[in-house]
Amino acid sequence: MDDHQQSSQFDGECNATPTPDLPLRWWTPARWAEQVLAKPLELLNDHAHLEKKAARNALELLDRWPDPVPPPKWVQTMTAIAKDEIEHLALVTRLIHERGGKMTKHHRNDYAAALRGLVRLGQGNCDLLDRLMVSALIEARSCERFAVLAENCADEELAKLYRGLWASEAGHYRAFFEHADDLLPAAEVAHRWDEMLDAEARIIAAQPPGPTMHSGVS
Ligand SMILES: [Fe+2]
Ligand SMILES: [Fe+2]
Repeated sequence: MDDHQQSSQFDGECNATPTPDLPLRWWTPARWAEQVLAKPLELLNDHAHLEKKAARNALELLDRWPDPVPPPKWVQTMTAIAKDEIEHLALVTRLIHERGGKMTKHHRNDYAAALRGLVRLGQGNCDLLDRLMVSALIEARSCERFAVLAENCADEELAKLYRGLWASEAGHYRAFFEHADDLLPAAEVAHRWDEMLDAEARIIAAQPPGPTMHSGVS
C-alpha cells in the first residue's frame, strides 16, 4: 500500500507546512505551538504521560501477534519501541524535575480515546489491524507536533528535546504501519487506512485548546 497516494476526503484547516513523509490530513498551525508553549510544565507533564502510555501500548501489542506465530520482527519491533518510549519518558520526567515541576498521578487523552474507539474489538485481524493503525496514527501525529514545536520554540532546551524526538516517533509510525500492511489483503488495508486517516483528521481538529500534545487550536 502506498499511503502517500491516498486522496483526502477531509477539508480541514491547512495553514501549516506539512511534515514530509507523513500522510496526515490536518496540519497543525504554528499558533498551536505558541499556545501550548505558554505552559511548558503542563505540556511536559502531558507529554510524559503519553510516553508512558506509548511504552505500555507497545508491550501490550507484543503478545497480540496474529495467529499462529509472531510475524518476522514482531517481538523485536514492539520491544524496541517500548524501550524507546521508556527512554523518552525518562528524558521528559528529568526535565520536569529540573524545572521544579511534578508529574501528575492522573491523565486523560480524549484524542487517543476517540481513536481507540474506532477499533473493531474482537474481530480477529481487523481488531489487530485497527490497533496497529491507531498506534501508527498517534505516532505520526506526535511526530508532526514535535516538528511544529521544534520550529516555534524559543526555549533551546525544549527545542532540542522536540528535535531529538521527531525522528524516533517517525520510525515508530513506519514500524507500526509496516506490520499493519502485512495483516490483510492490500485493498482491505488501503480502504481501512483511508477511513482512519479521515477519522484522525476529524478527531484532532475537534479537540479543545489547552497545554497538551493533542490539543486543538483556539
Ligand atoms: Fe516517544
Ligand atoms: Fe513513539
